[in-house]
Amino acid sequence: MRTVQLSDIFSDDTRNSLLDIYHSFDEYDTEEMAKAPVTEGTLDLVSETIRQCIGTDYKYVSGNYYHHTQPFYPHTDFKKEWVDSINIVIPLEDHTEGTGRLVIFDQEWHEDSKTWMMIHPVKHYDVNTALPGCPFDYPITNKTDDKIDEFFYKAHLTQFPVWCWQNLSGKTYRFEENSIIIFDNKRIHCTNNFTGSKTGLTLRYKKA
Ligand SMILES: [Fe+2]
Repeated sequence: MRTVQLSDIFSDDTRNSLLDIYHSFDEYDTEEMAKAPVTEGTLDLVSETIRQCIGTDYKYVSGNYYHHTQPFYPHTDFKKEWVDSINIVIPLEDHTEGTGRLVIFDQEWHEDSKTWMMIHPVKHYDVNTALPGCPFDYPITNKTDDKIDEFFYKAHLTQFPVWCWQNLSGKTYRFEENSIIIFDNKRIHCTNNFTGSKTGLTLRYKKA
């Protein structure tokens, strides 16, 4: 499927209600992402709007809230048992002074979700389990057989050395409050080299 970003899909009221749910948790999973689970109240707030965007062929399968102050590693959120699934990112709060973006690569990983640790030691994650090294070391689809575009690297991906991103190409999407970004769940994606902090909600839907 084609990646789309649609603006002004949610109201400030809905967005603030979602943020209230996120802030109501006492504890958050994982150091880098401060994740929190999707609640029934979350789905009550967004389901009808999402149905209007993606139609009735999709069923909610997983999701989480997240907050970060540092770019997160390239990863996927796909599970093979879902066969055909989409990933929806709903930016909730942008404290990046406009620097925050989601980078979605043209390359896909067709196995269960992984996180590439790049030049860092492998950590333990319960989902999106960590792999040593970079996506180019693995059988990802659509490799460019080239280094990453220099301008793209300098604008968005300087959190890791340029060689780490070889064989990848992609686009970025602004972390725009009240927008929705919809993309194929097999696509490798990551955060750009933003400064500040951002809070979002990500939901996965599989084709029913
Ligand atoms: Fe993700």
